[in-house]
Amino acid sequence: MAEGCDHSSCEAFEYKLVLHRGFKLISGIHSPEVVDQIHNFEIQDSDVFVITYPKSGTIWLQQILRLMEVKGDVTATNDQLNSECIPWMELIKSEQQFVSAPSPRIHVSHLPYKFMPFGLKQKKGKVIYVARNPKDVLVSYFHFHKYANMLETPKDFDDFFEKFMKGNVFGDCWFEHVKSWCSHKDEMNFLYITYEEMIKDLRSVVEKIASFLGKNLTPQQLNNVVEQSTFKIMKNNPQANYQHIPDILLNHKLGSFMRKGTVGDWKTCFTEAQNERFDKVYQQKMKDVPLTFIWDMSELITP
Ligand code: A3P
Repeated sequence: MAEGCDHSSCEAFEYKLVLHRGFKLISGIHSPEVVDQIHNFEIQDSDVFVITYPKSGTIWLQQILRLMEVKGDVTATNDQLNSECIPWMELIKSEQQFVSAPSPRIHVSHLPYKFMPFGLKQKKGKVIYVARNPKDVLVSYFHFHKYANMLETPKDFDDFFEKFMKGNVFGDCWFEHVKSWCSHKDEMNFLYITYEEMIKDLRSVVEKIASFLGKNLTPQQLNNVVEQSTFKIMKNNPQANYQHIPDILLNHKLGSFMRKGTVGDWKTCFTEAQNERFDKVYQQKMKDVPLTFIWDMSELITP
């Protein structure tokens, strides 16, 4: 979400959310023309798409999938950034760039289902959807807005809370994002995982992903993937932690992609009234959706 801008020398450039076919893109970062081409990209069975609403652990999946490709050997990842090896679908410059990427082509994306390659519906390629409880998404996104120069700085938490509830952010409405992808899951080769289950038991999620992608890793190689994908290790790994993003886009003095990496941080920001309101909206919007979320660390501890 934070790369691919052509304005690194243009201090005065103003990034704005612009509505394109019912979805807000960031002007100067995303090109509507390129986003529209994605639908027709030809998909191969080996293609993998990691789909997330912002702040749901995209960077985490980039690290896990990158390490899986090199069978857990972190030294083999030193030459290139994860975001270059597993780029953003919405930042691709042309179909040629997509076509010529080395196989397996692995991409991440925040785009809603309607923009994604048509071939996915014919069960070509694979989709991994990562969901995170939306209260923690909201808080993580609030902090992100404070240091992301391409996003409007919120006046305060209340201001951002309103924006998020209205879907007035890049990614639009969290509820619509998760619903749009999950309601089409049977049309695709689709794996649904949550941020919270990764926090609870990273090893079993890594195994699940490896099996979904048909990767044969030894137990030791799987251990290496898990060990190199912990919050602490990733925070200090420049290949993985997005610290390379230029200051014009992210003010690294004010924040970090690898911020807290926990479950239940929303409790430090939500007022009781905001929590009640959120719960009401959640119940209404998710009433027909068979998904459950973990909202607090205490729910992760098995007695
Ligand atoms: P917080 O801001 O709550 O800490 P994305 O890549 O989609 O923008 O997601 C970023 C969020 O994922 C941040 O959440 C970040 O800390 C968290 N994250 C990334 N890697 C993680 C890891 N290895 N363990 C736990 N959380 C991780």
